[in-house]
Amino acid sequence: MEKYLVTSALPYANGKLHIGHVAGAYLPADIFVRYKRLHNADVLYICGTDEHGAPISIAAEKEGVTPADIVERYHSSIKNSFDGLNIEFDNFSGTSRKAHHELSQTFFTELLENGFISTKTGKQFYDEKEKRFLPDRYIEGVCPHCGKDGARGDQCDACGKLIDAETLVNPISKISGATPILKETFHWCLDLPKFTEKLKTWLETKEYWKENVVNFIMSWLKEGLIERAITRDINWGVPIPIEGVEGKVLYVWFDAPIGYISSTKEWAESIGEPEKWKDYWLDQETRLIHFIGKDNIPFHTIIWPSLLMGQNEKYILPYDVPANEYLTLEGEKISTSKNWAIWVEDFLKDFDGEYLRYAIAANAPENKDADFNWKEFQSRINSELNNVFGNLVNRVFTFTQKRFEGVIAKPGKVSVKAKETLQEAMDLVVAIDEAFNTYQIRKAIKLIMDIARRGNRYCDETQPWKTIKETPEDTKETLYVCGKLIQMISVIFYPVIPTHITKLRVMMGLSEIPKWDEIEETPTITLSDIAPLFSKIEDKQVEEQIAILTEKSKAVQVKEVTPIKANIEFDDFMKADLRVVKVLTAEKIKKTDKLLKVEVDDGIGTRTVVAGISKHYKPEDLIGKNVVMLVNLNPRKLRGVESQGMILACTDGDILTVLHPEKEVSSGSTIS
Ligand code: MF3
Ligand code: ZN
Repeated sequence: MEKYLVTSALPYANGKLHIGHVAGAYLPADIFVRYKRLHNADVLYICGTDEHGAPISIAAEKEGVTPADIVERYHSSIKNSFDGLNIEFDNFSGTSRKAHHELSQTFFTELLENGFISTKTGKQFYDEKEKRFLPDRYIEGVCPHCGKDGARGDQCDACGKLIDAETLVNPISKISGATPILKETFHWCLDLPKFTEKLKTWLETKEYWKENVVNFIMSWLKEGLIERAITRDINWGVPIPIEGVEGKVLYVWFDAPIGYISSTKEWAESIGEPEKWKDYWLDQETRLIHFIGKDNIPFHTIIWPSLLMGQNEKYILPYDVPANEYLTLEGEKISTSKNWAIWVEDFLKDFDGEYLRYAIAANAPENKDADFNWKEFQSRINSELNNVFGNLVNRVFTFTQKRFEGVIAKPGKVSVKAKETLQEAMDLVVAIDEAFNTYQIRKAIKLIMDIARRGNRYCDETQPWKTIKETPEDTKETLYVCGKLIQMISVIFYPVIPTHITKLRVMMGLSEIPKWDEIEETPTITLSDIAPLFSKIEDKQVEEQIAILTEKSKAVQVKEVTPIKANIEFDDFMKADLRVVKVLTAEKIKKTDKLLKVEVDDGIGTRTVVAGISKHYKPEDLIGKNVVMLVNLNPRKLRGVESQGMILACTDGDILTVLHPEKEVSSGSTIS
C-alpha cells in the first residue's frame, strides 16, 4: 500500500489565518490527502503552529503579555479557522511544547557532534535606542542582490533571495526607525557547504518536482551554499542545549520543520502507539510531501534536508515539495499590516467554508500567482456550483422523485448514445485522477464541471419530460445516465467539498465517504430527503464584502518607514533645477487612468509635462495652482506627449499630494 506523510507549513502563531495561507499550503494539501485516501493509501496529515521567532516576542512585549499568551491565542484562532474549512489534520501541534524543544535540541546536539555545526564570532545589528540585537526581520534596507528597496534582513520579497542581514544596504531598524550599529556577538552556524554533494545527488532524483521549485534550488546551488547562523540573541525559543549559554536560542527556522516530526510523535502518543511515528519517518518507502508557499522553498529543499541528513536516525527526506505561488486579493498583494486580507474567521461568519474551498481550488496559484476577488467568487458559486452541478442534481433528483418514486436503476438495454456519454465521462475521470495526483487542482475542477455540463446537456438532448409520456424506458435511461454521472462526481469531487458531497451521498443512499473503486460500480440509487445542495450568493452580499475590505484597510493605513537613500554631494543636489510654476491647463490623457497632460508657465515661457496624478487630482483642481517642478529633467515621451519636467508630489500611503508653496509667488521662482 502506498504510504504518505503529508505536511502543511506550520503557520506562525502570531496572526490569524487568511485566504492567502489557505491557497498556498493548506487547501491543496487537504485535497491531496482526501484524494489519496479515496485510493485507499495510508496517509498521515501533520501540522501545528510555528510558535517561536522574534515577531512573537515583540508582539508580546508591545501588548504587555507573555509570548505564550500570544501563541495560545493564535493557535486556537488558527485551529478554528482550519476546522471551519474542513481542513483536517491528524495532528495539530505547536513548537513551544516540551517534546518539540527536546527533539530540536537533539537535532542540534547531533549535528554538532557529527561536525556540521561551528561557532562564529561576528557582528550583528544592534538597536541602540531599544538596547537589543535586531532580529533579521526587523531590519529593512536595499537588497544587495537586486537593488530593490524594502528587503528584510532575512529575505528579499522582490527577488526571493535569502540575505545576510549585514549585507543590506542602508539598513534601518523597523522597531525604532534608527540606523542600527554592528555589535560583536557569536553564533552557531550550520555548515551547509558540507552537504552540497549529498544534496546534489539527492536532488538529481527529483526530476518530477514542480518547475518553479527546481529552478529555485538550482540557482541556489549554482551560487554555492554558505554557512548560516542557526542561533539568535533572544529569549523566546528553544534554548541552546549547552551549559552556561544564556540569552540565545535556536533560530526559528532551525526548529520549525522539526515540528513535523514532533507533531507526528505527538499523534502516535495520542493514539496510544508511541512508536508508530517510526512507521512513517523511518520507513524509506514513505513518501514525505511538504506543501508550502513559495517563500519557504529554500528552507524545505536545502536547509531542512541537510538537518535530516546530519542526524543519527535515518530519517526519510522529502519526496516532493509542491510549492505554490501567491494569491492576490482584488488585484493587490495580500498584506496583514495593511489589513488587505480576508480573514478566514470573518469569511466563515458570512459564508459556507466549502464555498471558499471551491473558489480557491478552482483558481489556485499553482504555477503563477492567482487572484481572489469577490465578483469572481460569486460567479464561481452561482454559475458553476449552483447552475451547473447543483442544477444537474436538482433536476434529476426531483424528476426521479416525482415519476419513479426516487429510484434510479440500470435499464435492461443501454443505447449507444448513453454508452458513449458514460465512456466520455470515464475518460474525464482518468484525466481527473491524474490531475489530482500531480497537484493540478484547477484542472481537476474544470474537468469535474465538464462532467456535470455533459450531464445537463444529455438531459436537454434526451428531453425526459417529453419521453415520459410515450417511451418511459427512454426516460429511465436518461435518469440512469445522469444518476451515474452524479455518482461519479460524488466520488471525485469529495476531496474539494467533502461535507456537501457527504450530504449528497446520504440523499443517494450511498456510504458517507466514497472510494475511488466505486466508480466502476453501478448501484441502484434510492433517494431520500432530497434538498438543494447549494445556495446562491446575492449581489448585495459581495458588494458588502467589498465595502468592508476597503474600509478595514483604510482604517489601518500603517506608516511604513521608507529607508533613507545613500548620501549625495551638495553639488549633486545643485544640479537639480527646481522652480515654482503655474498650471495653465490640465487634461486627462485618453485611455490612461493615471496620466494628466499639464501646461505650465515657468516664468520664461510655457512647457508641457505629463504627470501621473490623475487618480488624485481632477484637471480643474490644478488649474491656476502654483506647483513645484524639476525643470531640467531630460524630456521624454509618454503616450505620445513630450514631458518636459516633473511635478513634485509627496506620497502618504496611497495618497499623492502635489507640493504647493505656502504663499503666492511668481512663476519661475527658484528653489534651494
Ligand atoms: N511559519 C513559517 C511561515 O509561515 C512556515 C514554517 S514551515 C516549517 O512562513 F517547516 F518550518 F515548519
Ligand atoms: Zn532582492
